[in-house]
Amino acid sequence: QLMKVYVTRRIPQEGLKVLTEAGVCKVSMWDSDEPVPRAELLKGVSGAHGLLCLLSDRIDTEVLDAAGPSLKVISTLSVGFDHIAINEIKKRGVRLGYTPDVLTDATAELTVALLLATARRLPEGVQEVKSGGWSTWKPLWLCGYGLSGSTVGVIGLGRIGLAIARRLKPFGVKRLLYSGRSAKPQAAEVEGEHVPLDTLVTESDFVVVSCSLTSDTQGLCDKAFFSKMKSNAVFINTSRGTVVNQEDLYEALSSGQIAAAGLDVTTPEPLPTDHPLLTLKNCVILPHIGSATYSTRGIMAALSANNLLAGVMGTAMPSELIL
Ligand code: GLV
Ligand code: GLV
Repeated sequence: QLMKVYVTRRIPQEGLKVLTEAGVCKVSMWDSDEPVPRAELLKGVSGAHGLLCLLSDRIDTEVLDAAGPSLKVISTLSVGFDHIAINEIKKRGVRLGYTPDVLTDATAELTVALLLATARRLPEGVQEVKSGGWSTWKPLWLCGYGLSGSTVGVIGLGRIGLAIARRLKPFGVKRLLYSGRSAKPQAAEVEGEHVPLDTLVTESDFVVVSCSLTSDTQGLCDKAFFSKMKSNAVFINTSRGTVVNQEDLYEALSSGQIAAAGLDVTTPEPLPTDHPLLTLKNCVILPHIGSATYSTRGIMAALSANNLLAGVMGTAMPSELIL
């Protein structure tokens, strides 16, 4: 008897190929680039053995109830799993697959790109060229901040945080600070100094947020946090939007408390086009594209499909989050 799996969005071919060629499941997919309507999702998961979802799907008690006792596995096409009610799925004995490691390089590259674009004001420069604002070469025009000789602080030196540090170090970074619960032996490779969060925030020229979203990190970057940053400092977040209090960030950016911010994640996503942060020249916002290279998304799709298959068959998953 075929296993029933539900896929909440059109996913890269590499993932579909894994699912269809296995020949063990009947795949229903919401075949669109747009999110599945909630009612459709609740109907679609009914009686499913496996659910392949995205970080934009909220997987809560309602979805789990709609799926019913047949559900064995949730496989998310992401490394983050803050959109999933972990305690609930644990209680129900549902397994969880995710996609760590395979997106580390792509996300670290995007973080470096965003940091440089923000610090060197690339979007502003592009806009000036297009709008005719480029009148001549001006010594004081569009100046920003460089990495050479700087202090970089990474909040959360996990897989991605370390990959970011590794890439930033060769730009001539003088000190590499990191914060987090414990000192990490792998920090030696980037000569990282484990410091209290306060020290990191106070001393860094670039503050890079690369931690996962938990009850400890929700709202971590707030008024008190920004008020400790240097006025020349650049703030970068490629983790989750709710780690930041956006009203406090707006205040810090518009008052000149900090120099600039680059965000790949916001609250909500998408950010409404009339959001105050979008009126600021010193705020660069990207639409959550950290892992968006063709190759990485293909590999993520295949990995999440293999996680899903293993979950419905009751075998070892390539990447299981042990709950
Ligand atoms: C991206 O944010 C992910 O969690 O994969
Ligand atoms: C810049 O283009 C310079 O020549 O200094």
